[in-house]
Amino acid sequence: MSESTTIRWEQDATGVVTLVLDDPAQSANTMNQAFRTSVAAVAARAEAEKDSIRGIIVTSAKKTFFAGGDLKDMIKIGPGDAQQVFDAGLAVKRALRTIETLGKPVVAAINGAALGGGYEIALACHHRIALDAPGSKIGLPEVTLGLLPAGGGVTRTVRLLGISDALLKVLLQGTQYGPRRALDNGLVHEVAATTEEMIERARAFIDAHPESAQPWDVKGYKIPGGTPSNPRFAANLPAFPANLMKQTGGAPYPAPRNILAAAVEGSQVDFETAQIIEARYFTELVTGQTAKNMIQAFFFDLQAVNSGASRPQGVEKRPVRKVAVLGAGMMGAGIAYSCARAGIDVVLKDVSAEAAAKGKAYSEKVLAKAVARGRTTEAGRDALLARITPTGDVADLAGCDAVIEAVFEDTALKHQVFQEIQDVVDPDALLCSNTSTLPITALADGVTRPADFIGLHFFSPVDKMPLVEIIKGEKTGDEALARAFDLVRQIKKTPIVVNDSRGFFTSRVIGRFINEGVAMVAEGVEPASVEQAAAQAGYPAKVLSLMDELTLTLPRKIRNETRRAVEDAGGTWTPHPADAVIDRMVDEFGRPGRGGGAGFYDYADDGSRTGLWPGLREHFTKADTDVPFTDLKERMLFSEALDSVRCLDENVLTTVADANIGSVMGIGFPPWTGGVLQYINGYEGGLPGFVARARELAETYGERFEPPASLVAKAERGETYHDG
Ligand code: NAI
Repeated sequence: MSESTTIRWEQDATGVVTLVLDDPAQSANTMNQAFRTSVAAVAARAEAEKDSIRGIIVTSAKKTFFAGGDLKDMIKIGPGDAQQVFDAGLAVKRALRTIETLGKPVVAAINGAALGGGYEIALACHHRIALDAPGSKIGLPEVTLGLLPAGGGVTRTVRLLGISDALLKVLLQGTQYGPRRALDNGLVHEVAATTEEMIERARAFIDAHPESAQPWDVKGYKIPGGTPSNPRFAANLPAFPANLMKQTGGAPYPAPRNILAAAVEGSQVDFETAQIIEARYFTELVTGQTAKNMIQAFFFDLQAVNSGASRPQGVEKRPVRKVAVLGAGMMGAGIAYSCARAGIDVVLKDVSAEAAAKGKAYSEKVLAKAVARGRTTEAGRDALLARITPTGDVADLAGCDAVIEAVFEDTALKHQVFQEIQDVVDPDALLCSNTSTLPITALADGVTRPADFIGLHFFSPVDKMPLVEIIKGEKTGDEALARAFDLVRQIKKTPIVVNDSRGFFTSRVIGRFINEGVAMVAEGVEPASVEQAAAQAGYPAKVLSLMDELTLTLPRKIRNETRRAVEDAGGTWTPHPADAVIDRMVDEFGRPGRGGGAGFYDYADDGSRTGLWPGLREHFTKADTDVPFTDLKERMLFSEALDSVRCLDENVLTTVADANIGSVMGIGFPPWTGGVLQYINGYEGGLPGFVARARELAETYGERFEPPASLVAKAERGETYHDG
């Protein structure tokens, strides 16, 4: 039997075989061709030498247990590769099944992260012991990449946990559990504090269970919670797709649908048939476009963004120790919490100590909930709170090596607060503003060190939103950009880097989406259809409700400022069809949005939404308006994608990865697309198909859909949007 290349076979004198996952060609183990060959060889050897084997321990020599599928390979798979993918998958499944049914105890000693394929290998073992390593994660996140776990993951979790729990706790959300939570949720059997303890316990299991088998291979086994063949279970079955529909809003997410089908269908047949069903549904996903979009964005682009493709090289890393947060309102309070959570000392400054204390109270509230849910300990809470010092006194900012300003959105006020603090903080402290609309270059005019001044645009709610948009002003230096980038990573958020421009990237592009939705109202489209189109396109927030949240007066203010700037520069201002609706809503009907108690929606006294305002139909809807539903959806998506191309042309954006990640993680561009530019790549017919459709929309709905020359040229050259 030939020695396998990525799995080491180590057998001791007592007959315990340790299978060490250790791909010599990579820093992490993945399910690549070498692994597929190795696992088949190992399974064959185990079968052949079974009499000399007392038990098997599966562990890894890498920092992580096993990283999962090889995405570099997967993203290249086309519809023509379906049979090959199906066969390769079945071969791995068979090998794991051989080891699982050998009649010998098999233990997974999970020494680090076991996600996707890694957890599937562990699932094929009879007993799973996880090392309580910091940051170690366990789960099946395939759905977040538009895939399903096809190494037996659906088949085995359904048999381990029952259909409902497998779907809700593991498969449909792709939840990643820390070792302790994995234990609480039944994903592993034990947690060990050290590697030695883990191996010792693995051996103890082997000693105690010489003829171990999986529960599902024991006679009389029944899937926990029942299967659709049980009438009571069957009665609840229609609720599953209905909930799924609610979750995805009808947007094109094939993965949850296929996972559901594989779980339900697989529960009604024997194990081997279930694995074949799982493989079929996987093959359909991996050869399709959505998985490619999601792998591109959530793996490759995210990795590029987080690893610093946009960070200037050669600037030494200098972690921030003490940050001044100016303004303890909604944003300042969240920023203070996020920094303290990352171990940074925070001085939270507002106009008075009382106002600052209110900002700190936000952290107290968030932490109280976290303690109640077991997400942190009382000691953890106290340590975090001790790092936040609320104050009304500028003198307390001495020793701060970074400043994040989040006072009211007013240039003069922002200039004033920077004047007050710039001589108190460290002489080379990084100076950041969280403005969402004011040009950074103009704000930098108010400080003595404009090279150290930069925009750090957080999103609300700060502790939940993963993105920060870094805005480089004309005078911002490379050192400041690198330090801002490092600070965002230090607080474990994802930084995109853009050049200064009105609305930067995110506010500018989300504005196109909102304007397009409002323009539809102006045309007389039924408002409920506008909302439905946004949901079905996959947007997490419906367009008119989003407009209400942001308030209608804000885009008006931005529009007027932009108009003035354009006209001052000698340009011509082209009004948008949305403008008139917004003006009438505010001036004629007194409906400025949720904050004002009325907007496109009506609100009850407690602020809850009661329904779309019937006046919309009366004042705007015309009976003869008949815009195809596909057009409604695509107008929203195209308006954002086209403006992102313009952002690249104008050097507001400098990388494709920043565009894709910023759009999905910052402004809710539908994740199934893989982001604004990947949407163009993945559109039916590729770039030429997108260009043709944009021209069609331009002809019907206006010049704003005319594809930019750069896009047309790219399409003609047969290129797509990719970095590097
Ligand atoms: P907010 O109104 O909740 O808070 C502003 C805080 O600044 C108040 O607590 C106020 O007392 C304080 N303040 C005013 N003058 C001050 C001074 N001289 N010194 C210290 N503190 C002072 O406002 P919010 O929503 O937190 O916004 C703050 C900034 O963040 C604005 O520039 C806004 O454009 C930006 N932003 C807001 C987002 C949002 O969703 N609300 C999103 C991203 C950025």
